[in-house]
Amino acid sequence: MYEREMRKCFRLAKKGYGKVSPNPLVGCVILDKNGNEISNGYHRRYGENHAERDALLKLTPSEAKGGTLIVNLEPCNHYGKTPPCSDLIIKYGIKRVVISTLDPNPKAYGGKEKLEQAGVEVITGVLEQEGRFLNRIFFNNIEHKRTYIVLKTATTIDGKIGTSSGDSKWITSAGARELARKFRQEYDAIMTTSSTVLADNPQMLHRNKIILDRNCRLDFNLNIFKQGNIILINGNNKKYNQEPPFNVQMIYVEEKNNKFNLKDIFNKIYGIGIMSVFVEAGSKLNGEIIKQDLADEIIQFTAPKILNDNSGISCYNGEKAEKISATKVYELKELKPIYPDYYARYVRK
Ligand SMILES: NC(=O)c1ccc[n+]([C@@H]2O[C@H](COP(=O)([O-])OP(=O)(O)OC[C@H]3O[C@@H](n4cnc5c(N)ncnc54)[C@H](OP(=O)(O)O)[C@@H]3O)[C@@H](O)[C@H]2O)c1
Repeated sequence: MYEREMRKCFRLAKKGYGKVSPNPLVGCVILDKNGNEISNGYHRRYGENHAERDALLKLTPSEAKGGTLIVNLEPCNHYGKTPPCSDLIIKYGIKRVVISTLDPNPKAYGGKEKLEQAGVEVITGVLEQEGRFLNRIFFNNIEHKRTYIVLKTATTIDGKIGTSSGDSKWITSAGARELARKFRQEYDAIMTTSSTVLADNPQMLHRNKIILDRNCRLDFNLNIFKQGNIILINGNNKKYNQEPPFNVQMIYVEEKNNKFNLKDIFNKIYGIGIMSVFVEAGSKLNGEIIKQDLADEIIQFTAPKILNDNSGISCYNGEKAEKISATKVYELKELKPIYPDYYARYVRK
């Protein structure tokens, strides 16, 4: 029951992608007492109205009275940027509230109890798995207190990201690359390395760009510095020859055996409010991330091309599994053609 309306809540919620972090994606549908939809809304941007408030404020209390409110996350019960949604729902005389997932946030939860105490019928768990998947970044942040990490790769059928001579332009089609740029905007930051920046001199349009540059090899005239906030990850003992531009911030991380501790980097960026990272790098950083089991999700674009060269650049170059039973296993969640290529979305099992 209410699955159709809940699916609509998910669609509405997705309009907030890239704008609501660190908040969850939330959509809301309101039905009158005869079951006809009379309003809907969603959380548009961090700091703005929650989905329930967005939908309720389009109605008068007499229009909403006796109606059913469907929302994918438990209505909040706290004073944050806005007052508690549970109070507004009660004030508008809503008779029934239908929820997909309960709110795991200790600051906000308790809406269900508040509503029930006020005599509102509450139904929970409608399309709960889909609701959890929609807000996987939010649940990961609250439950594990760390940044959600997504690895994006673009490979040939034989899993290569470049030829042995370093040529990598372009493996996938213009349409696939455009979609990858769209996905990028759904996350708080992108991450890459000085090796990839020096090889391709990309712009990588995004508001927050994190670059691992242990040896301070980058020149501030490169395209990547032309836009967005740049966070450079450096060790303690190397310096740039030039003064960094105003949009550059440094984060220092300790080195061991000429490497950074990646967990340290991700902890530090979580500490500055970056809740999700889209990694667009080459085989070494990808391989390290897989080796340390840090990737929550992988989005892999595949082009119908074969390099047929064992010395081409592999997508992952970390620590090999000696046996199939020792491989890292992911779960396929989405598979879509973007002709002539396709992409697959995998999540950690
Ligand atoms: N098709 C795709 O999806 C895609 C995406 C991006 C890049 N590429 C291609 O990948 C190629 C580059 O591959 P790559 O394997 O050489 O590059 P990479 O993985 O992007 O970068 C390797 C460098 O990253 C730094 N690094 C990685 N892990 C580190 C750690 N734990 N601590 C400190 N630094 C760390 C090191 O830099 P230092 O040497 O400075 O320590 C290392 O040399 C380029 O040709 C590029 O075109 C393809």
